[in-house]
Amino acid sequence: MNEGLGPLAGRRIVVGVSGSIAAYKAVSLVRMLGDRGAVVDVAMTAAATRFVGPLTFESLTHRPVLDDVFELDAEQQIAHIELAEAADAIVLAPATANLIGELAAGLVGDAVTAIACASRAPVIVAPAMDAGMWTHPATQRNVATLRDFGYILVEPEVGELASGLTGIGRLAEPPTIVAAVEHLFARAGDLEGLHVVVSAGGTREPLDPVRFIGNRSSGKMGAALAEAARDRGAAVTLIAGVMSVTPPRGVTVIEATTAHAMRESVLRAAPNADILVMAAAVADFAPARASQRKIKRSGDTLQIELVPNPDIVAEVGEMPDEVRPFLIGFAAESNDLEANAAAKLRDKGLDLIVGNVVGGPFDAIGSDENKVTVFAAEGALTDWPMLPKRQVAERLWDLIADRYRHSRGATESTTSPRRRRS
Ligand SMILES: Cc1cc2nc3c(=O)[nH]c(=O)nc-3n(C[C@H](O)[C@H](O)[C@H](O)COP(=O)(O)O)c2cc1C
Repeated sequence: MNEGLGPLAGRRIVVGVSGSIAAYKAVSLVRMLGDRGAVVDVAMTAAATRFVGPLTFESLTHRPVLDDVFELDAEQQIAHIELAEAADAIVLAPATANLIGELAAGLVGDAVTAIACASRAPVIVAPAMDAGMWTHPATQRNVATLRDFGYILVEPEVGELASGLTGIGRLAEPPTIVAAVEHLFARAGDLEGLHVVVSAGGTREPLDPVRFIGNRSSGKMGAALAEAARDRGAAVTLIAGVMSVTPPRGVTVIEATTAHAMRESVLRAAPNADILVMAAAVADFAPARASQRKIKRSGDTLQIELVPNPDIVAEVGEMPDEVRPFLIGFAAESNDLEANAAAKLRDKGLDLIVGNVVGGPFDAIGSDENKVTVFAAEGALTDWPMLPKRQVAERLWDLIADRYRHSRGATESTTSPRRRRS
């Protein structure tokens, strides 16, 4: 036993097990969490008890398994509410398609769904199912809903499934799930006390009352960054351009759907921000004039004059050190990523730049995944694979928080306490 060491020591964790063939892996998971000093309670759906006996978990945890929503605990309290309130984290592993659907719909018919619904603790969901079930639009919609709730997904893996076929849907291995739980506690609070501003989404530059020039940005990367910063304790302001996802709960949202509105909001927010992440895809050009009336069809060609938009990142980069936040930009490039990102970092006075590829097989725009490289003045800092955007966000915050602290520590001993350039 490792009790007393590491981020899980003394944490109350509820593991919710549902009726998947992978329920046997929850046995290893519970054991590993216990070995790391967590106090683990297990809740099971009725279907789960047909795969693994509650006695197995009870022997490991020395605590009763809750598989009945009507059960009272030793003090005659409603057991699922007691567990929901006591939990520091809830881990649903394996999570069946059915469980995910119930949670997304707010259906609370058993002990596992009742605990997850009643608790305000973070919820980690590790799905396990047949590939057909996983890729079904209903499951994907339900998973997206859970993400919107702020649930953390431990993605299923590709491998041999219960059917004997190979595909996506296999439960992540217990060490991967344990790592997600540890990450939650290791990182919780590392942005506490900081005001983080994130810009996200695309802009629409009006041509007339109904038409605009826009881009394909979904805002998913910025939303993931805002959500992850919130979970790590930051006060978060999201300056939202046009987004195809719902902004996370618990962050202040300021809508800014044109480049000029975005500029105004960013310049107003920046002096009060400790860290500013400019993930929005702001149009570089806008029509010189927006027609007050709808432009009518005619046989003639239509010439639209475009004028450059303000360079918002560069303006923040030029702010005096006393008010300039730690500044992170994004570079979306279709070619020469490294050279273009390095130039942008230098020219715009950024602390870090996140380079991602647009177009081609690694296209970042609109996708749920992203492959990014982070550059600082000394060159590329990362070599990350393609990852879900939430995981990219976590990794980015690990790096940003570290660099931010370093820059602040390095400058606190010098003259200006707000000077944060690295
Ligand atoms: C042998 C067997 C294996 C199953 N494995 C899975 C699975 O991995 N994932 C899943 O979503 N459903 C699986 N199911 C179906 C679920 O058990 C079924 O949908 C059940 O109603 C889930 O209930 P629960 O979500 O309340 O646990 C399996 C069923 C059987 C008979």
